Amino acid sequence: MECHPLSRLIVISNRVSAPKPDQPAAQGGLAVALTAALRESEGIWFGWSGHAGEDHKLDFETHAGVTSGTIDLTAQEIDEYYNGYANSTLWPLFHYRLDLTEFERDYQGGYERVNRVFGDIVAPHIMPDDVVWVHDYHMIPLGWILRQHGMKNRIGFFLHIPWPPTRLLVALPDHKRLVEALFAYDVVGFQSAEWLESFRHYVTHEMGGTLGENGRITVGGRTIRAIACPIGIDSKDFIANANTDHARDVKMRVLESGVGRQMIIGVDRLDYSKGLAERFLGYERFLQKNPDRRALVYLLQIAPPSRTDVESYQAIRNHLDSLSGRINGQYADIDWTPIRYVNRGYPRDTLAGVYRAARIGLVTSLRDGMNLVAKEFVAAQDPRDPGVLILSRFTGAAEQLTGALMINPYSADDIAEAIGTALAMPREERIARWQPMFDNVRDHDVTWWRERFIAALEAA
Ligand code: G6P
Repeated sequence: MECHPLSRLIVISNRVSAPKPDQPAAQGGLAVALTAALRESEGIWFGWSGHAGEDHKLDFETHAGVTSGTIDLTAQEIDEYYNGYANSTLWPLFHYRLDLTEFERDYQGGYERVNRVFGDIVAPHIMPDDVVWVHDYHMIPLGWILRQHGMKNRIGFFLHIPWPPTRLLVALPDHKRLVEALFAYDVVGFQSAEWLESFRHYVTHEMGGTLGENGRITVGGRTIRAIACPIGIDSKDFIANANTDHARDVKMRVLESGVGRQMIIGVDRLDYSKGLAERFLGYERFLQKNPDRRALVYLLQIAPPSRTDVESYQAIRNHLDSLSGRINGQYADIDWTPIRYVNRGYPRDTLAGVYRAARIGLVTSLRDGMNLVAKEFVAAQDPRDPGVLILSRFTGAAEQLTGALMINPYSADDIAEAIGTALAMPREERIARWQPMFDNVRDHDVTWWRERFIAALEAA
């Protein structure tokens, strides 16, 4: 019999790393970290296939030594669970957007039903010694459902998005039911100390929970550990990517197309939480206030569409189309377009080259669990001549990347001033700010994150 140094790892998340070829895969770095652990422990990654189908047949596939088990969901389930409760209720609420949050009983019902479907299907495949790791807001009740199947395994949960302040969360009907479900896990992980603090506040104020040593929290006789465990990127790979011939070609192409102008880069899923409108307005304010520096810069905004069946995402897309059009119409010249706005995604090695060509990385999220673009931008810089990161203080990454120019993205003046400061920043200061951020991104990479979380879970 083969002996494994690790317990077998079971990962469950809405998206899996190796879905059908036409489906977007889970976040690059995350997929890399988890697939490495899955491969070593001969584990399985379960999730949604990304497709609509008539039944929930589990489909196993093994790619490069990693097995994934996916199921289809019905069109109604996708509507209520994915577009509905996950992305029209929890996502906006957890990103502090009560104004965009939809409260529909059908969504909640669909969410709970789909979680039960996942739990029922996955449970028979989990063996007593397996370590189970559930990911993100789509799957909060899953641990509780697995416990109902009698499972005594170590089960952990990691939330990739913010945890909202108590005063917002209580606006969710049945909020307590959702949070109680988290007490079925052994370890619950958050991206930052701030989200952890909000969670602890909720549990002590709304559930009579008591706090113990080492992140322990007890509610009604059940104790869990709640920890801050910030996710990183696959730094080694990203740094290597930034030094490939392809990345160099991309960098040259970008620099040539800019004819000597400094580039400001933004890369985001097209999501209202990213503060894209605020970014455009902040950049516009810079142009307004600095007529002499107008033609020295341009903004390249890469924003692949996301969750296109959800109304609030259609609205933000329309809004950005008109905003970029208006700003370009007002400020463009015969040989200069202030905003290059691109609605598609690019592979990582191309992005690495684009980041490296940029003088400024601009991250203006209104609220963001972590923001890995900020880390990728840092990782991709040339150590001898690094660009400047302008970072929203409302990202999880702001707790780690303290060398950035911190901004309040709600203030157009703040963004405009930071752009001016970054453009004028001497090389020594750019290096002095960049180096500690680079060290942080390199050392606290996605493997560090995974090992830290799994160690906490194994110790539980
Ligand atoms: C965020 C979430 C992930 C999600 C990703 C892409 O990063 O935390 O769980 O997979 O967005 O969104 P999508 O809806 O396309 O999966």
